[in-house]
Amino acid sequence: MTKLTASEIAQMHPETLALSYGFDPWLSEGAVKPPVFLTSTFAFKCAADGKQFFAWAHGEGSPPPRREQGLIYSRLNNPNLEIFEDRVALWEGMKDACSFASGMAAIATTLLATHQPGDEMIVCAPVYGGTDAFALHFLHRFGIAAHFVPAGIDAPALAEALITARTRSIFIESPANPNNRLTDIGRMKELARRHAPAAPGAETGRILVIVDNTMAGPVFAQPAKVGADIVLYSATKFIGGHSDVVGGVALANDPVLLAAIARHRALFGGMPNPHTAWLLTRSLETLKIRAEQQQRNAVAVAAFLAQHPKVRRVGFLGLLTPDDPEYAIYRKQHSGPGSLISCYLHGGEKEAFALLDHLKVFKLAVSLGSTESLAQHPAAMTHSGLAPADKLLGGVTDDLVRLSIGIENHDDLIWDLQQALDQVAPVENPAPAACLVGVT
Ligand SMILES: Cc1ncc(COP(=O)(O)O)c(C=O)c1O
Repeated sequence: MTKLTASEIAQMHPETLALSYGFDPWLSEGAVKPPVFLTSTFAFKCAADGKQFFAWAHGEGSPPPRREQGLIYSRLNNPNLEIFEDRVALWEGMKDACSFASGMAAIATTLLATHQPGDEMIVCAPVYGGTDAFALHFLHRFGIAAHFVPAGIDAPALAEALITARTRSIFIESPANPNNRLTDIGRMKELARRHAPAAPGAETGRILVIVDNTMAGPVFAQPAKVGADIVLYSATKFIGGHSDVVGGVALANDPVLLAAIARHRALFGGMPNPHTAWLLTRSLETLKIRAEQQQRNAVAVAAFLAQHPKVRRVGFLGLLTPDDPEYAIYRKQHSGPGSLISCYLHGGEKEAFALLDHLKVFKLAVSLGSTESLAQHPAAMTHSGLAPADKLLGGVTDDLVRLSIGIENHDDLIWDLQQALDQVAPVENPAPAACLVGVT
């Protein structure tokens, strides 16, 4: 075996590199797969090494790149975390990543690492319920204010009206959880640059564009390519992909930003354990084939739902047409529609619960992006903590069921939805149906 050169690696695709990048078998007895480095601490060859590694970890002197700073202690660094971080960064085409014990740990640590008391955030609603609660209630206690605008085509104009000298970030989920609305990341970046240009020599300006890309997953959208400064993931979803592990990732191209996030991770202790990182690395090997099969199934399921008389509207990127204002954003930011479907029924909670209670193949469970299909009711479950006004702003209505499509045979999924919809009582005088991702 001969090693790939750096220029050969640069030409390879992430699905190829997901099987080998960042791991040298000859450092581990020739093992083809990375062993799990179940160790809390690492031996230094000499005391001077220990002193040097700690100095670098504190940011003293001129530290080499993170991967060359020397292993110290598994809250600071560990080979399994580093292999996973190297490989997940490849999928994004980004320079570096920091792994976490959960998506919320990634989000919370990143926001605390990048904001100070007095700062303001602009958040495109809806966002995941935990993110909403963190930005709105927790950060508020530390003097950081979150202002919300609805996600979608008007979000940049609405955000611009809220920008002040204290604005530190624009936080976006695109597509948004749970309504699949799209926000133009490039326009937000342009806004950020115009209102707070980067200082000479700095990679990022004062206003950071932070994108939680969990809903699309790294196969079909890479937000940094269109302007995101920081990309966040709940790795529990598509990256882990089997509903058997909880994890998170923060990625940034600016080494100063990433170092700040890594330092705060070490302070808060939100890193994944080596086995979690190993599982996430294993899952990256099948990420593309899983995501593509899930997407194929979702296209078929969305087409079925769009023509069903008990369905009022289907929010699915694959159903956007060129006359929809968000279509241009879709073409710019996505290479495929992914596998999340927002299904709005005629009726309300009663009808939505009837559908959920009669499903046999879909699991009635929160989470998304896994091999098995999942269905849940955001208003009563993942987004139940939102205030009624925020639910309204984010289109989290009682008639909405969020579907995450898995890798099963799509005929079986459609059969399941059909038999469950048969059990939903028809409503009198239903509102006219619409199948686009549009206003609810
Ligand atoms: C879009 C999004 N971001 C973040 C999270 C939080 O991730 P975790 O549950 O891994 O902490 C979730 C969880 O559902 C999510 O859907």
